[in-house]
Amino acid sequence: MAPTLFPTAPSTSAAPLRSNYTDVVNKFHPTRPGWYEELYAKFLNSACKSYEAEVARYKSEIFSNLKEKAQKILEIGIGTGPNLRYYASNSEVQVVGIDPNQKMEKYARSSAVSAGLPPSNFEFIHAVGEVIPLDDASVDAVVGTLVLCSVKDVSLTLQEMKRVLRPGGMYVFVEHIGAKEGTLKFIQKILDPLQQTVGDGCHLCRDIGSYISEAGFSRVDLNTVSLKKAAFVNPHIYGAAYK
Ligand SMILES: C[S@@+](CC[C@H](N)C(=O)[O-])C[C@H]1O[C@@H](n2cnc3c(N)ncnc32)[C@H](O)[C@@H]1O
Repeated sequence: MAPTLFPTAPSTSAAPLRSNYTDVVNKFHPTRPGWYEELYAKFLNSACKSYEAEVARYKSEIFSNLKEKAQKILEIGIGTGPNLRYYASNSEVQVVGIDPNQKMEKYARSSAVSAGLPPSNFEFIHAVGEVIPLDDASVDAVVGTLVLCSVKDVSLTLQEMKRVLRPGGMYVFVEHIGAKEGTLKFIQKILDPLQQTVGDGCHLCRDIGSYISEAGFSRVDLNTVSLKKAAFVNPHIYGAAYK
């Protein structure tokens, strides 16, 4: 079944959805120039191969949790779709990918095809994590990698993930977080404004682990790792949280 753009059940987010959803997207992710969105999408699609190779073992571990347990999956800030190959090879799976950068769509669609997902099982929606245009309790799993660094409102995004997850549903994540106080944190604080400019709003110093742990999930399994290919964009956390 295709996802509905407007929640049928009342939710904390229903009010803004009654107005034009483009206004909602612009509120949380103001439109960037087309060339910037294209350049960023192209960069993510081509420049992150060595990072993806290094993070593969952690992704394989967490995404194996979804096998046979999740039929409908929402990916927040899907970007070019590097995660689809881990969880979308099963033709029974329905995937909705949301992203405010429409230039990501062609890359995400291509990744879905490469992963073996039938085109009818994949939907890309121009949307933000802060106001997810899906019904309450309508998905089995939410996926988010390297996205809570970029959203405008981390707490609101996590509340929205919980709202659309069915009871017992799982949020699977990989995120980079701010380092502990020390040399790396010092460097991150200096580079943070530049990173936000060239990395489409990506923050280097966010304590995303605490946001996830305090979001009210019934259980959070969280691991920390440092990735060589991610240089100063470290450490990373990965794991799963259960509604
Ligand atoms: C660093 S990229 C990561 C993309 C992909 N998840 C990955 O792992 O390669 C961050 C993504 O988050 C998206 N994004 C930015 N703000 C967002 C928001 N408020 N809600 C949802 N996605 C957002 C960006 O457009 C971009 O695709």
